[in-house]
Amino acid sequence: MPNYFLSANTSSEQSLAIERSIRTAIPDLIKIANLEEIAKDIANHPNAPTYILVAGPADNAAYIDRFVDIATQQLGRFFFILISADISTGNYKRLIRTGNADWVSVAGAPQEIAEIFAKRRSNSALAEKASVEPEKPTTIAFLPAAGGVGNTTMVTEIGTWLKTQKANKDRRICVVDLDFQTSHICDYLDVEPRLQIQEVSENPDRLDAQLFDIFVTHHSSGLDVIAAPRSKFDIASLNMGALDNLFEIIAKRYDLILIDLPVTWFAWTVDIISNSNAVVVTGINTIPCLRQLAQTLAVVRDARPGLPQDKVAVVVNRCDRTLLGGVERRQHVQSVLGDEQVFYVGNDSAALVESANTGTPLALSGGSRKTIKEISTIAEYCLGANAPNVKAA
Ligand SMILES: Nc1ncnc2c1ncn2[C@@H]1O[C@H](COP(=O)(O)OP(=O)(O)OP(=O)(O)O)[C@@H](O)[C@H]1O
Ligand SMILES: [Mg+2]
Repeated sequence: MPNYFLSANTSSEQSLAIERSIRTAIPDLIKIANLEEIAKDIANHPNAPTYILVAGPADNAAYIDRFVDIATQQLGRFFFILISADISTGNYKRLIRTGNADWVSVAGAPQEIAEIFAKRRSNSALAEKASVEPEKPTTIAFLPAAGGVGNTTMVTEIGTWLKTQKANKDRRICVVDLDFQTSHICDYLDVEPRLQIQEVSENPDRLDAQLFDIFVTHHSSGLDVIAAPRSKFDIASLNMGALDNLFEIIAKRYDLILIDLPVTWFAWTVDIISNSNAVVVTGINTIPCLRQLAQTLAVVRDARPGLPQDKVAVVVNRCDRTLLGGVERRQHVQSVLGDEQVFYVGNDSAALVESANTGTPLALSGGSRKTIKEISTIAEYCLGANAPNVKAA
């Protein structure tokens, strides 16, 4: 796999320092003076993925525009990684939306580059395996271990994030809110819920494609939302046949279905979990919640014996950060959850509470690069969950 290193608009001293640091992780780096040199060399590696690592300036508008332009035109042949001082969240989003570029900080370069390589390797394995059954939608059930841990935030952010990525423009994605009594997905997206769940439950046979259309809310990001207005409707009496009909239509309409489950366990929760490709259990990093996470995982595995290890994941949300950017009390998570596959999401109240209050998810507003990276990693896991037995990124 050829990896090229190009220095653009940086001092030669800085460029040398960056090159030296990334050579520790990528010893066979090929240094080039301009992109044209790749054209000569590429004939030697016709099918290998090619990474182009560029040491460049941070937040130079003209430079980022050019970078985005070049990355956009690559059609997946090359992948660009900009190595620079801090860039704005807006510029970061522009880079990764191309689908052919990413950014790493000068300080974190060797390790963050290795992470990008690993993530992309794993994603292409997932995509290859998923293509075995391209017709089937991918369904992910998000199950909170406790109330208020950010289950709805994850579903909403992941859905909108995916929908705003160029690569997913044609992918039909929906979120389904099964938290009927305290439903709040629509508040987070500033749209109106349209599903009449009581009507569906009372007259399950009436639900057809036409009626379903009336029940769907379209968000400006392209994400579809299937959610009912909050009501004290007795969820325990929800007609299972009605829920079956609803999901049968949803499965025909969408490629990716993200389900927001309520914290309370109902008889139909088992059905939802049994029909999902993966289950993501959400919680926070406190000892009581870690215990609830462990118990919820046990209940999930009990309800769905044989569910492969990599089809269950945990999101530990609202994590505090150490001074060096790591996760505070990570060892607590590891001691309670052992080998579970865990995704960490940092506490980003400035952005996430603001995003909830204004009904504008991070994909469309601000947020720290770190939070966006963390959410996009879970989103990619969701996309690949249809693949049989592949370890997630
Ligand atoms: N990573 C985070 N950092 C900071 N605040 C967060 C984070 N994730 C979620 N929040 C905030 O936590 C609050 C609860 O989140 P959310 O409504 O998604 O939780 P929930 O699990 O769906 O709750 P419920 O049990 O009511 O359904 C919201 O105000 C949300 O903005
Ligand atoms: Mg919720």
